[in-house]
Amino acid sequence: MTSQSRILIKGGKVVNEDYSEIADVYIENGVIHAVEPDLKVPAGTRVVDAKGKLLMPGGIDTHTHMELAFMGTVAADDFYTGTKAALAGGTTMILDFSIPQKGASLLEAYERWRSIADPKVCCDYSLHVAVTWWSDWVKQEMETLVEEKGVNSFKMFMAYKDVFMLSDQELHAAFSQCKDIGAIAQVHAENGDLIVEGAKRMLKLGITGPEGHEMCRPEEVEAEATQRAITIAHAVNCPLYVVHVMSKSAARVVGNARRNGCVVFGEPIAAGLGTDGTHYWHKDWAHAAGFVMGPPLRPDPSTPGYLMDLLANDDLTVSGTDHCTFSVCQKALGKDDFTKIPNGVNGVEDRMSVIWEKGVHSGKMDENRFVAVTSSNAAKIFNLYPQKGRIAKGSDADLVVWDPKATRLISAKTHHQAVDYNIFEGMVCHGVPLLTISRGMVVYEGGRVMAQPGQGRFIPRKPYADMVYKRIRQREEVRKPSAVARNPYDGEIISLA
Ligand code: URP
Ligand code: ZN
Ligand code: ZN
Ligand code: ZN
Repeated sequence: MTSQSRILIKGGKVVNEDYSEIADVYIENGVIHAVEPDLKVPAGTRVVDAKGKLLMPGGIDTHTHMELAFMGTVAADDFYTGTKAALAGGTTMILDFSIPQKGASLLEAYERWRSIADPKVCCDYSLHVAVTWWSDWVKQEMETLVEEKGVNSFKMFMAYKDVFMLSDQELHAAFSQCKDIGAIAQVHAENGDLIVEGAKRMLKLGITGPEGHEMCRPEEVEAEATQRAITIAHAVNCPLYVVHVMSKSAARVVGNARRNGCVVFGEPIAAGLGTDGTHYWHKDWAHAAGFVMGPPLRPDPSTPGYLMDLLANDDLTVSGTDHCTFSVCQKALGKDDFTKIPNGVNGVEDRMSVIWEKGVHSGKMDENRFVAVTSSNAAKIFNLYPQKGRIAKGSDADLVVWDPKATRLISAKTHHQAVDYNIFEGMVCHGVPLLTISRGMVVYEGGRVMAQPGQGRFIPRKPYADMVYKRIRQREEVRKPSAVARNPYDGEIISLA
């Protein structure tokens, strides 16, 4: 055993989602062996002094699109650069999406994504699978993915008409199947028909720039779809996860549904929590285009603070990034027509610091809530807990040593992401990852990423996550509709002509 495989992190404040304590953490062969004060460890163990620092579960980014082929081009960050950047930001696991074309096999899309990602990933990862069309074959493949391939989440698109979008009837069928196989349904909630009509209108008005991207799909287009998805999911008793909640209106819809007892979870992303849609009106086209993503950032500048408030109080539950980067020359595919700008922004490296700065440093949430929304809740919803998302004996040694007082300046000049700009450029964040440990190995320290491609592993997930399905199962039993026992009607009946 080498000293690399035995690490003692000494004297830090161990922060889990429920409490914090000063303790040593001893790691051996990728697993946490002990969390106690004043641990005695074998000679030759590497010792990391964490006095005055926090020790937190590595971040779990619930939403990335590494090297996604999308809108005529391929995302700039691949599974190597993207996961390296994740580690530099204190994130030790990503959940990416395999997205089949309409008519194509879900299983083949999954196998293809595995073969692309497996040799490149520097941190652990798992896969959501998208349902972009509907048939009995798709239904069967969903079951196979759950039973044999470690998938327990499926994303359905209500936007990208004619490309990925499903009808309400197809959503109903897909949600029903998710419920039957113990998976969680995820939705990209925007009204795809309204977006198409809105875009036509903008172009007709001569609005071809990035501001048209937001104006063709204002908040209510997102809120309407969010409410519709919740209604359909509730009708079939399916748990729902709304990805990239970008507006106050959509966030309110999610929060209200939770208060009404729906099993629904909302995922804001780093972009929506850290910046806003006023950039779409910037005079420099390249600057404005850099922020184009769907759903768009909102021009109301109080949106990020509002989303953070809701993330702090549990109206929203978990955070991702929708990391899907395109460099300026790729964004330029849409220089004369905003509908052709590849949709996507950065965040995988920035998310932890942005949420610390805007969430914890601002006083909206404490360090424990930070761990909940950046790691533990994702682990619980996607059935990875406590293997991931917790610092405890037996858990995977995915951790970050965090300096809550230090600051760092976010810039494309210094970031590890492959894209040539950063939507958070110039932001100074309190909360800096000093050292990241993935699978029990120090993979980031002093600004340097040491991880090798293929060092991460695919993490399979089982269906029926407790946090999601305990309530669903009980409701299935006790809330079955039943007919009223009554005598048959034996009176007169009119005859139809
Ligand atoms: O703009 C975005 N969000 N790009 C990635 C695809 C998606 O909808 O998540
Ligand atoms: Zn989406
Ligand atoms: Zn700007
Ligand atoms: Zn996405």
